Amino acid sequence: MGVLYSQVADQLQALIQEGVYREGDRLPGVRVLSRQFGVSISTVLHAHQTLEARGYLEARERSGYFVRLPVQDVPEPRMPKHRSRPVPVTAREMTLDLCADEQKRMVPLATAIPHPDYLPLRQIQQSTLWAARRGLETLDYAFPGKESFRRQIAQRMATIGVPVTPDDILATNGAQEAIILALRAVTEPGDIVAVESPSFPGILQALEVVGLRVIEIPTHPSEGLSLEGLELALDQWPLKACVVVTNHSNPMGARMSDERKKQLVSMLAAANVPLIEDDIYGDLYHTGERPRPAKAFDRADNVIYCSSFSKTVSPGLRLGWMIPGRHMASARQHKYFVNLATSSIPQLAIAHFLEQGGYDRYLRSARQHYREATERMRSAVARSFPEGTAVSRPQGGFVLWVQLPEGVSGTGLYQKARAENINVAPGLMFSTTNKFDNCLRLNGGNPWTGTIEKAVARLGAMAHEQVTG
Ligand SMILES: Cc1ncc(COP(=O)(O)O)c(C=O)c1O
Repeated sequence: MGVLYSQVADQLQALIQEGVYREGDRLPGVRVLSRQFGVSISTVLHAHQTLEARGYLEARERSGYFVRLPVQDVPEPRMPKHRSRPVPVTAREMTLDLCADEQKRMVPLATAIPHPDYLPLRQIQQSTLWAARRGLETLDYAFPGKESFRRQIAQRMATIGVPVTPDDILATNGAQEAIILALRAVTEPGDIVAVESPSFPGILQALEVVGLRVIEIPTHPSEGLSLEGLELALDQWPLKACVVVTNHSNPMGARMSDERKKQLVSMLAAANVPLIEDDIYGDLYHTGERPRPAKAFDRADNVIYCSSFSKTVSPGLRLGWMIPGRHMASARQHKYFVNLATSSIPQLAIAHFLEQGGYDRYLRSARQHYREATERMRSAVARSFPEGTAVSRPQGGFVLWVQLPEGVSGTGLYQKARAENINVAPGLMFSTTNKFDNCLRLNGGNPWTGTIEKAVARLGAMAHEQVTG
């Protein structure tokens, strides 16, 4: 069914794009389409909803579905061209504001947190109950992670081109801890580390916690980290590590191609600079196949792989893992110093969930949802925001990066929006400099409700006011 309705939606979309159905035309009734495509009525209805989400159809009460051409497509944001110098990192208070309790009452467009409606709650409840009944196994320190959890992770890693054994895996409290441990394992305070620009604020905070200096490398909205920019930085500065979200980065949604991943891995290996790879969004690709991580091309044991279940199964389980390679002893030692081990029950629960085979089935529907939801949000931004706005076209995950027209401040919009209980993430949070002040990150993964629709329209109106005011 999942595949069938999207095939029907694709064929109808092609007919609209080829001009067979024009703007304002009423589509044939569901019974006619069900006969035409040889599918059930519910499949046609699902295809209609999909096309509505993509911005090609509009439902009119008691009249049927009418063709609507998506608003003139918006361009992707430009890649910033900047030369930067290494600087110490200091946290922006706004980042902490996003975790504040009050944000729960706001329209949630700021945080990159999956919507609860799309988490596999029932399966995780069952697996957690199963895990809690394991007896003494749940009560000990799980150094360096539960064997059953690490075995399941090793099996999944093999399917994405990273053949490792359970002994190569260290369980962590989310990807954030994995990144911090990786940085601690390969750097000393004061060292210089390269990151994407714009970059996930948690990576900047990790650098701050470890006392590192950052050099920001320009990042293309669909191709990812600029290899030319990295080469310049490698020539100029004694880098000690490079942190990259290789698949569907946050905030841009960029995915590096296999070719670029190979180049990245070999450039860094040649310079003897470890790559810390954050693959937290890898499983949330919108189309095609699961992209391989850079670690799959690592022949020199120079890539430290980090990931977690926060974007897929649950951020609250706080369960991630890392593959530190030759830095295992150091990563284990740093983990031991900070919190000894990762909680046992979440590991046992996730191991059970993975063993039962429900994860892939769940991922299929989550991916489909995020693809449609982010497309719908793109169309809504294109309709509501002023001319000159650019929006990323993420290839996975659920966040959108919006570049506002010259002179419109993302911080200004963030403040105004908060006063109306709409929460967005201002561009300033994604860099140590002010260069993304005209940007916003939006969570595009929420179910499409009237509240979300109104909030996006309101944001667009506020942006218009800034252009004209
Ligand atoms: C790119 C990226 N890395 C790491 C994290 C943190 O992950 P975790 O919750 O597993 O610590 C996030 C969460 O927003 C993220 O977007």
